[in-house]
Amino acid sequence: MSLEVIILAAGKGTRMYSDLPKVLHPLAGQAMLTRVIEAAEATGADKIHVVTGFQSEMVRNHYQDSPYNDRIHWVEQTEQLGTGHAVSQALPAVDPDNQVLVLYGDVPLLEAETLTKLVAACGDSGIAVLTLDTANPAGLGRIVRNNKGDITEIVEEKDANIEQKAITEINTGIMAFSAAKLKAWLEKTNTNNAQGEYYLTDTVAMACADGLKVSSLTTEDEDSVQGVNNRLQLAELERRLQRKQAEQIASNGTTVLNLDRVEIRGHTTFGKDVVIDINVILEGDNHIGDRVRIGPNTVIKNSRIGSDTCIEAFSHLEDCEIQLACQIGPYARLRPGTVLCDKAKIGNFVETKKTVIGKGSKVNHLSYIGDAQVDEAANVGAGTITCNYDGVNKYKTHIKSNAFIGSNTALVAPVTVGMGATTGAGSVITSDIPDGQLAIGRGKQRNIPNWKRPTKKTD
Ligand code: UD1
Ligand code: CA
Repeated sequence: MSLEVIILAAGKGTRMYSDLPKVLHPLAGQAMLTRVIEAAEATGADKIHVVTGFQSEMVRNHYQDSPYNDRIHWVEQTEQLGTGHAVSQALPAVDPDNQVLVLYGDVPLLEAETLTKLVAACGDSGIAVLTLDTANPAGLGRIVRNNKGDITEIVEEKDANIEQKAITEINTGIMAFSAAKLKAWLEKTNTNNAQGEYYLTDTVAMACADGLKVSSLTTEDEDSVQGVNNRLQLAELERRLQRKQAEQIASNGTTVLNLDRVEIRGHTTFGKDVVIDINVILEGDNHIGDRVRIGPNTVIKNSRIGSDTCIEAFSHLEDCEIQLACQIGPYARLRPGTVLCDKAKIGNFVETKKTVIGKGSKVNHLSYIGDAQVDEAANVGAGTITCNYDGVNKYKTHIKSNAFIGSNTALVAPVTVGMGATTGAGSVITSDIPDGQLAIGRGKQRNIPNWKRPTKKTD
């Protein structure tokens, strides 16, 4: 007997007021549905079925190039006739000897450990419900128990009487079943209820009628079963998740100067003694090495930062490889394909793209260096620009070791500056410079004696 997971994600999400399907809205940088799929994977499930309906195509396309695509069996629910109906659409593909775990695509913070426990609790009776005791049961299905404490039914708020509405134990929506029993019960469900829908929750009363004891597991962690129905709930969940992540990295040895002012959107790993100042955003997959200091208002996306590197305030890095002990910013912009070798320095208002900056080389001020290779110990002066683009094609600039590029040099690519070569300030360099030579490419200065400034005309 193995486990199959059915994830319900066909609903419209009307209250998101969005063209994007609800389950694709990101939480900490990841679509809600992705988080649910990951939780399903973490239970060791054999198969994952995802039921889509509203903007099905868009949801499926989102996973086309993802590693999960091969794992997901997509199921179409053309009309959203209720949670019971949605599960029924997936059941023909489910092995009746297996267990089934039902998850919602809009309940994104599930803990795999809880899910595994719920499946285990399902055991003999063939049905288990994950419940929560909450101060805010409004809108949710209430767990009705008899005087022995056994669950007898789940009543939706719209069908509940005053007494039932006062119940504070609610159905999180997460349920586990034996597939064969689930199949039999769902065949008997009808739409005789306030919403005219096929309710998955009706299986509870049916199990009782079969003389079975409905198992339950009650979670204490409200966030982990919080559903998202609108953007306010999404924003609130985002805050709580970010706070939790910040606490986690702080507990594991990173200095976080303000736990409420760091955002991790994706997966970042940290070395030892990392210091993160305020308003830092870490997006995608990053690794931050030992003793790295990240200054305030810095964005780092899909990058590796080598140990002992210091990134000063307001810097922006994307798809970069930063090696050891580099110095970056403040106000640096390192675009995709930037590699800084050990001890390289990128100063303020410098933009790099598809560029390797060699060991110990410096670009300290106000430059654009793109499609370039800078070898070791070169100094690129203030205002240097690689003219890499003729409007159609891009060309490479090569600056060899120990070169000294004078301020405000325009390097018109393709061009090579030789080892130890120098350019005069303000030069426009259009041809290669041999090793060790000085290149000056600019109009000569003329001093005009006895020149008079213009005077104001009178009329
Ligand atoms: C459901 C439960 C309720 C529980 C609550 C927790 C039922 C009848 N009610 O109510 O007891 O407290 O969740 O949030 O099960 N979906 C489909 N197809 C459909 C209908 C729904 O895929 O035809 C999906 C939705 O996209 C959503 C999930 O199922 O992800 C739950 O649907 P929703 O309409 O939000 O259920 P609730 O009325 O909130
Ligand atoms: Ca809901």
